[in-house]
Amino acid sequence: MRLHRLLRLGLPVLGLGLMTGLVFGWPWSRDMVEQPAVRPFEVWMPLPPEGTVPQATAWRPGPTAITPEAVEAGRQLFRTYCVVCHGPMAKGTGPVAKKLKSRPYDITGPFVAQKKDTSLYETLRGGGVVMPPYREALSPTETWAVLSYVRSLQRKGPPP
Ligand code: HEC
Repeated sequence: MRLHRLLRLGLPVLGLGLMTGLVFGWPWSRDMVEQPAVRPFEVWMPLPPEGTVPQATAWRPGPTAITPEAVEAGRQLFRTYCVVCHGPMAKGTGPVAKKLKSRPYDITGPFVAQKKDTSLYETLRGGGVVMPPYREALSPTETWAVLSYVRSLQRKGPPP
């Protein structure tokens, strides 16, 4: 009777121990670790091909050379896409502006004027907090045209 109870308790414990040993103690438990593979920091990252530039700067020179054609194209795009929020004078007084939780910036003002071209480009492509993204609506060239217009406003004050 005692032996019987001992076996009933002991056998499952022994079985469990054996199984654990098989799973964790056997050589195959490390097969996934010890395989031919490149481990982190074992080799250097391949360098980019000669002449490659990061994407953010790849568009340079942007609207640095502001041509009258780009400004005119930008003005029309601004009237189409931006005026609803930013208003005809780009001061942030468009009809939709009142409905927004945070007001569109006065993009003729010094805060936006001191921003880098690439920074504004990224905002236009990817959107701001409230401002929608325009990477679908505007091509890169059109985006630079709009920025040329924005820059021309900042230089001359009221739009032409
Ligand atoms: C739905 C309203 C809305 C529309 C449409 C809109 N904007 Fe904006 N814009 C905003 C708001 C709001 C901000 C302030 C930042 C934020 O909260 O996203 C802003 C900020 C900006 C800034 C400042 C970005 C910065 O980094 O400080 C620029 C430049 C700008 N808009 C240009 C444009 C241009 C160009 C268009 C058209 C292609 C446009 N916006 C369309 C609402 C709008």
